[in-house]
Amino acid sequence: MCGIFAVSGTQRNAGERVLEGLKKLEYRGYDSWGIAVRIENNTVNTIKKVGKISTSTEIFPEGTESLGHSRWATHGKVTQENAHPHRSGKVTLVHNGIFENYTDFITPEIQKNLLSETDTEVIALLIDTFLKKGELPEEAVRKSAQKMKGRFAILVMIDDIPGIFAARRGSPLILGRTETETFIASDIPAFLSETRIVNYLDDGEMVYVKGNTLQFSKISTGESLIKRDIEVPWKMEESEKGKFAHFMIKEIFDQKSSIASAINHSDEDIQKAVKILQSTNGSYFLACGTANKVCSAAEYFFANQAGRKINVVPSSEMPNFEKFIHQKTALVAVSQSGETADVLEILERGKAKGARIIAITNVESSSIARIADVHLPLRAGPEKAVASTKAATAQMALLYLLATADAGKITEGRQTLLALAANVNDLLNPRYEEKVQIIAEKIVKAPNLFIIGRNALYPMALESAIKIMEVSYVHAQGFAAGEMKHGPIALIEEGSPCLVLGGDEETLMNAMELKSRGARIIGVSPKRSEIFDEWLKVPEANGIQSIATIIPVQILAYKLAVLKGLDPDMPRNLAKSVTVK
Ligand code: F6R
Repeated sequence: MCGIFAVSGTQRNAGERVLEGLKKLEYRGYDSWGIAVRIENNTVNTIKKVGKISTSTEIFPEGTESLGHSRWATHGKVTQENAHPHRSGKVTLVHNGIFENYTDFITPEIQKNLLSETDTEVIALLIDTFLKKGELPEEAVRKSAQKMKGRFAILVMIDDIPGIFAARRGSPLILGRTETETFIASDIPAFLSETRIVNYLDDGEMVYVKGNTLQFSKISTGESLIKRDIEVPWKMEESEKGKFAHFMIKEIFDQKSSIASAINHSDEDIQKAVKILQSTNGSYFLACGTANKVCSAAEYFFANQAGRKINVVPSSEMPNFEKFIHQKTALVAVSQSGETADVLEILERGKAKGARIIAITNVESSSIARIADVHLPLRAGPEKAVASTKAATAQMALLYLLATADAGKITEGRQTLLALAANVNDLLNPRYEEKVQIIAEKIVKAPNLFIIGRNALYPMALESAIKIMEVSYVHAQGFAAGEMKHGPIALIEEGSPCLVLGGDEETLMNAMELKSRGARIIGVSPKRSEIFDEWLKVPEANGIQSIATIIPVQILAYKLAVLKGLDPDMPRNLAKSVTVK
């Protein structure tokens, strides 16, 4: 949540470069943006705007250092005053996270002089106060960071002091380096066009950056740290839209290869995770949103394949059950970003109790990946559209592989998944997209959409509703196929569109109950049925029909959004990577 980016180097267009980098992080927040450039006389010039940064062609004053921010509002409304960077005295600062105890530092006198409603302005004030007391710049940043409660990543410029200070606890910060300069970003795509050489700033660490010189230290003690350069495997073209109109449809089409990449792990690596499941007394699968629905599908995979009962709880609800976490508990965290605060917090507390952690994330450098005993990367490539698509199917594929490995049937599991991957490759073509488009046109005006599914297609009905609601703003609700008649069927009217996931006998019976009351039935299944008014064919995939079935629904959600003139990549009120609770 919120993208932050800075450059310290030799080229004189640092402002424009931060603008371009921030555009690549816009998926993290797009309420407002702002950029500060250090100019000739070592003072700082700041531009702040409400709205999306992607449309900006702003010209900045010359300077070799700049920092900026694309905001997802937490404290304070979406206004120019609340946009970052914030300034106090000689300090200019951007911030991703929440300064939980910021009100402790606001006296009535200070309150009168604050220019914004944000917690961030108070961090700038705190650093400036330390500077005024005669602290050296690095110590002023360190001492301020020590006082802050909550998760944060900050980038700081101080008038008259060349260089940029960065510190983090909880929120991500990654440094990219060339021979002459350094980039600091919340996510790698911001600088991927410039370099693939990175240094990770770990929790509780800070760094002073000037050109390509870096001084790392611990926030708590000031102890110096040495970091290793790492080359990231990401390719530039993976984080570009290419020929596609939006990232969302590009990422849906990436599923031609991402399902196979997700299971490209050695049997030994998979077994390391399985060993944790088998040597503990119970497991909690922790995830939010789409990733939580993926885990609910995995509940069926483990039950059916391995005879194992796993516990799936949305991470935000997990505090109610934390008392059951102990040394013999396995925590399985599933997260595209690897930064989701609700998941990370449970993991941190679980780790302190001695629980074992398996993480499945798409970002190898993420906090969730780094806290785990065993990390299985998704390798789906960067996912930039806010709605999770290719990461979700990659997560399901990897969890299915784990379930089959748990049952001692990993080879069969792999074969089933690879067969599906090949079928998905064939399915995703312009003709299929056109078929989905025709259905989208027929239902785009409907105020409500119902989705039913049975077995692992039940969580996919819930996931379908998330996908459709978040990008097209059509009210959609998913139900277990057998549950409609226990209440919600009262909502069915003549023409109500109902997506029916699957074509088994019982689901078709439930579909018939809806059709008899006037529903328009859109079947998503391997076989046509006369009950269907429309039909989206999906490949037959025994045990993993859930993966095959969600793909056309992702396309449908995308098409509905585009037909309504919406931007599916950046739906209102949302942001990718939810680093606040
Ligand atoms: C919906 C969506 C969200 C995420 C959720 C968890 O399409 O993308 O519901 O699934 O915010 O995010 P990660 O997977 O990054 O933990």
